[in-house]
Amino acid sequence: MSSLKDEIDMQNLPVHIAIIMDGNGRWAKKRFLPRKLGHKAGADTLEDITKAADKLGVKHLTVYAFSTENWKRSDEEVKGIMDLLRNYLDRYVAKADKEDIKIDIIGERSRLDQDIQEKIKLIESISAEKPGLNLHIALNYGGRDDLLRGFKKIAGRIEDGSLRAEDITEEMISENLDTGFYPDPELVIRTSGEERISNFMLWQIAYSEFVFNSKLWPDYTEEDLYGDICYYQNRDRRFGGR
Ligand code: IPE
Ligand code: IPE
Ligand code: MG
Repeated sequence: MSSLKDEIDMQNLPVHIAIIMDGNGRWAKKRFLPRKLGHKAGADTLEDITKAADKLGVKHLTVYAFSTENWKRSDEEVKGIMDLLRNYLDRYVAKADKEDIKIDIIGERSRLDQDIQEKIKLIESISAEKPGLNLHIALNYGGRDDLLRGFKKIAGRIEDGSLRAEDITEEMISENLDTGFYPDPELVIRTSGEERISNFMLWQIAYSEFVFNSKLWPDYTEEDLYGDICYYQNRDRRFGGR
């Protein structure tokens, strides 16, 4: 069977793809299932897409799993998502020997339950030496919160006298964000047909290309990823020049 994978220009593969994984609730609703099962199906899709991106040779994949605004949802739904996360982290640890991908978490951790914070620390230390794709999971992440925390770090250096305000650079702002140690995304994909950013990376997307895919996240497949990469590769990225 032919695959869109063969259409991808491997010389022009995005180094960093970011995904807003949206539509789990609608997927469940269509099937008269509880929202929690939509999130479960979404977690399975994440595993498939991570493997596909790794095999393709993508270096960084950032996925929006829980926003700073998602706490507004019912306690039951938030707990359901957190339990799925626990499960996801435990499964990685259990099969860590066979794992190729590196996992880290971006976002503000102190609001997460203590046991989840411990699991995150463990998984980050286990996966640090893995050779494959870097999977960055955005948890209790908000683009504005990321900038706010970054500005506070920089302001701290001004306060202690080690930095002058006029010496602040764009690079310094980038470095003080949660994503400071990896490049900005060339491609941002949002599923479910919604065409908004919902407080995902704000500074980092200055020149990203956007693909809004109408598929609900649990229905999103490897082939959809390949198709979205091809769509991106046919864009003309001008960066303000001509
Ligand atoms: C995305 O799916 C997952 C999270 C925000 C945690 P949604 O739960 O937002 O699904 P819809 O948008 O209601 O369909
Ligand atoms: C964005 O989706 C957050 C995640 C995918 C984690 P939402 O479903 O929360 O965003 P809105 O409410 O439609 O803007
Ligand atoms: Mg949504």
